[in-house]
Amino acid sequence: LSAYFQPKLLAGLRVLVSAGPTLEMIDPVRALTNLSSGKMGYAVARAAYEAGATVTLVSGPTCREAPLGVTRLSVTSTEEMGQALMNTAGLADIFISVAAVADYRPAICATQKIKKSEQTLTLDLIPNDDILLQIANRADAPFCVGFAAETENLPENGEAKRHRKNLPLLVVNRAQDALGSDDNELLLLDDEGKHLLPHADKLTLARQLIAHIARLYLHKTK
Ligand code: CTP
Ligand code: CA
Repeated sequence: LSAYFQPKLLAGLRVLVSAGPTLEMIDPVRALTNLSSGKMGYAVARAAYEAGATVTLVSGPTCREAPLGVTRLSVTSTEEMGQALMNTAGLADIFISVAAVADYRPAICATQKIKKSEQTLTLDLIPNDDILLQIANRADAPFCVGFAAETENLPENGEAKRHRKNLPLLVVNRAQDALGSDDNELLLLDDEGKHLLPHADKLTLARQLIAHIARLYLHKTK
């Protein structure tokens, strides 16, 4: 296996990875979240470390252990994840945003448990900041990679998203294939076009993705 990463593609580089879901509290016992096991993001962090990088992983709530050699910062809400990433992005050469970030949060978090009644319950939701968009458009932006789970029109939706966020690379996967699964299939969209990483386990895909990112990054900074 060590032969796979000879020479170390990311030696001397600092890589920031986000993974897992974020969680937005509704009241003291209930929350709004996205489905995300953290498997793909943790695999990407591990693969970046194997490739010689110094890796920081900002993770939403998951049941996973931090990969060996990786520094993990655990967060819960999107706001906390945003703060942790904004504070560390300036030091990173590469930021890979794998987290399934909640797009909205309740306008207010009830201080007491909301009691059930026969009435329908309406929650007011307000939008969260787009962390990746903010980091990718900073003057000191690292090389930013987005991850999108789509249910349909993967190349079109992915390319539109890549341009909207101003990303050199966006990875798209089919939500139905990716969620909770040990395997996946990734479509990489960059300035050179489309590149498919066919069906494999998530660690294999993460290693192939890191090799692709290293190629683009080294080409860009040459
Ligand atoms: N992302 C982020 N902050 C948000 C929402 C998303 O940093 N508030 C990041 C994700 O980590 C991912 C990328 O943006 O790398 C794409 O996320 P996705 O949910 O697919 O895109 P959105 O722009 O939120 O669009 P939509 O959910 O409407 O498809
Ligand atoms: Ca979203």
